[in-house]
Amino acid sequence: MNSDRKHERGSGLVARRDLLVAGLGFTAASFFPTSAGAQSAQNPTTILKSPKGKRKLGSLEVSALGLGCMSMAGGFYDPRQDKGEMVRLIRTAVDRGVTFFDTAEVYGPFVSEEYVGEALAPMRNQVVIASKFGFEFPNGQRGGRNSRPEHIRQAIEGSLRRLKTDWIDLYYLHRVDPNVPVEDVAGTVKDLIKAGKVKHFGVSEAAPQTIRRAHAVQPITALQTEYSLIERVAENGILSTCEELGIGFVPWGPVHRGFLTGRFDANSRFDRSDRRSAVPSFTPDALKANMAILDLVRDWAKRKGVTPAQFSLAWLLAQKPWIVPIPGTTKLSHLEENLGAVTVDLSSNELSQIRAALSKIKVQGVRAPESAQTDQ
Ligand SMILES: NC(=O)c1ccc[n+]([C@@H]2O[C@H](COP(=O)([O-])OP(=O)(O)OC[C@H]3O[C@@H](n4cnc5c(N)ncnc54)[C@H](OP(=O)(O)O)[C@@H]3O)[C@@H](O)[C@H]2O)c1
Repeated sequence: MNSDRKHERGSGLVARRDLLVAGLGFTAASFFPTSAGAQSAQNPTTILKSPKGKRKLGSLEVSALGLGCMSMAGGFYDPRQDKGEMVRLIRTAVDRGVTFFDTAEVYGPFVSEEYVGEALAPMRNQVVIASKFGFEFPNGQRGGRNSRPEHIRQAIEGSLRRLKTDWIDLYYLHRVDPNVPVEDVAGTVKDLIKAGKVKHFGVSEAAPQTIRRAHAVQPITALQTEYSLIERVAENGILSTCEELGIGFVPWGPVHRGFLTGRFDANSRFDRSDRRSAVPSFTPDALKANMAILDLVRDWAKRKGVTPAQFSLAWLLAQKPWIVPIPGTTKLSHLEENLGAVTVDLSSNELSQIRAALSKIKVQGVRAPESAQTDQ
């Protein structure tokens, strides 16, 4: 347990970090104008631990914000992070009221699951662990898609071992395998549910027709697909399918890989070790064009007295009560900033104004609307 946490618990004082996320702090002072609205004085942990801070993905209750644990493994945005530090970060998230943790076999591969398993083993019954299957790993390296039933039955044993648990709360098909009917995948997960190894079935980046076919065999609890103020492809029939079928929605990339936090500008460049170097919305031209979205975000963040990251996450939360974003971070300060999003309320009038402004901005490097009808 780290000394900060001991100090905060023992002192009985308002934690310094809580002041920061409440908008009364220091380093983010430029993001927290003195005219900050009353809402920013609320404590995110108090909210997250209250009924207001809980959301339902199908029948699964989770905190309104989860924690994405992908980039902890390295090979995405930053090098692999120290295991001890990530274990502390994940446990701090639990202390702050987060109950929903997102990982996958392929992150590392295997590393993120190991970190999550180590961190959450002592509090297994208080948290919801989501992991994903669907790839093969020749020589321990990521290979192609593989969702054959026998492969899934093998994959889950490895995930359970690394996660130090007897069950996975939400087990997602990570990417649809074109060589395996999705009904067979759903049927295999159904068997894993019967065996008590899985509690809920999830699917990631699937088209509406695939969602329907899988759901008919084993009801889907959550769909995980990219969604943010910049990448709104899910608004083309994916979110409406979830709504119709009672499936929860988990946006990945909710701060668009950091872009919506304001940490990059039109001159930012990414080397090959950073996945963003291959993402179309991070090319020099796209960054330049997409600054218009960031300007909008900054403007609204200022009006609401919060940070761009908090506003961006709050906008997602305001879209539907069954949406649960999972911002990924390797840093405690970012985790705490992001959790502050639960203090931000956006009225329907404000949401309409934001929509109208968004519709006037031509975003570059995002997916074509028709791609929503195809498995990714
Ligand atoms: N289903 C899928 O196919 C799929 C695909 C990708 C990701 N995911 C899941 O979704 C989660 C989130 O997606 P993501 O990590 O790609 O994108 P993201 O959450 O939009 O962005 C993560 C990036 O933003 C930075 N960041 C986060 N909060 C910040 C803040 N307040 N200020 C400044 N920078 C901040 C992080 O850096 P720091 O570490 O420095 O904070 C990291 O580089 C992942 O962890 C993973 O669990 C799923």
